Amino acid sequence: MMNLTLKIWRQKNSNDKGSIVDYPVTDISPDMSFLEMLDVLNQELIEKGEEPVAFDHDCREGICGTCSLYINGRAHGPSTRITACQLHMRSFKDGDTIYIEPWRAKAFPVIKDLIVDRTSFDRIQQAGGFISVNTSGNTQDANAIPIEKENADKAFDAATCIGCGACVASCKNSSAMLFVSAKVSQFALLPQGQVEATDRVLNMVKQMDEEGFGNCTNTGACEVECPKGISLENIARMNREYLAASFKG
Ligand code: SF4
Ligand code: FES
Repeated sequence: MMNLTLKIWRQKNSNDKGSIVDYPVTDISPDMSFLEMLDVLNQELIEKGEEPVAFDHDCREGICGTCSLYINGRAHGPSTRITACQLHMRSFKDGDTIYIEPWRAKAFPVIKDLIVDRTSFDRIQQAGGFISVNTSGNTQDANAIPIEKENADKAFDAATCIGCGACVASCKNSSAMLFVSAKVSQFALLPQGQVEATDRVLNMVKQMDEEGFGNCTNTGACEVECPKGISLENIARMNREYLAASFKG
């Protein structure tokens, strides 16, 4: 069992200045997940009549992308290729001090404590629009269209992006290029994605810029901290798609 000191960002609302508050927690099992450890703290706070720490979570198994926690200065904590909900307390030791903060980026304003508003990502995806599908009754089975194995694999890899925002949070420019390039690439590599390809990349990049994300300067922190291992190769692909679309558009 471990005793820890948590230093947690508390902020009442988006207008509040916010500050770090110290919370000791005791008897933490190394088998607990990081979020279960926060549940223990919140239960204690509720029992004492204090406001629990607000943090985002849903699936708790690395799928939904909501558990956006900056732990000891790293997006999703000290381990790579996992989300904060997949982090276990065995990654820490008795007596540790753990800093827990929300994502920091202009386009991800803090709503409360550790929860940020990531609807900018939703608007970027919406700007990408739909895929045209022939519903005339003569629709060809998608599996009947041959797709090169390498492209199918790369499209699938790009589609594993869970929209968590760790790429933005870990980038010194708060760039969303890794996220947007994954969303562009998952369609750009498939024949089904070609019909709207020009508008898609132009509109998504335009929306990304309007949301206030920074420029990419190829530092690569996003790729290191991405829990799904989304490759920088996608950014290069998006740049090529964008250039080609600019000539056409
Ligand atoms: S690219 Fe990676 S870090 Fe960025 S939103 Fe997608 S899964 Fe999260
Ligand atoms: S709670 Fe869903 S990815 Fe962490």
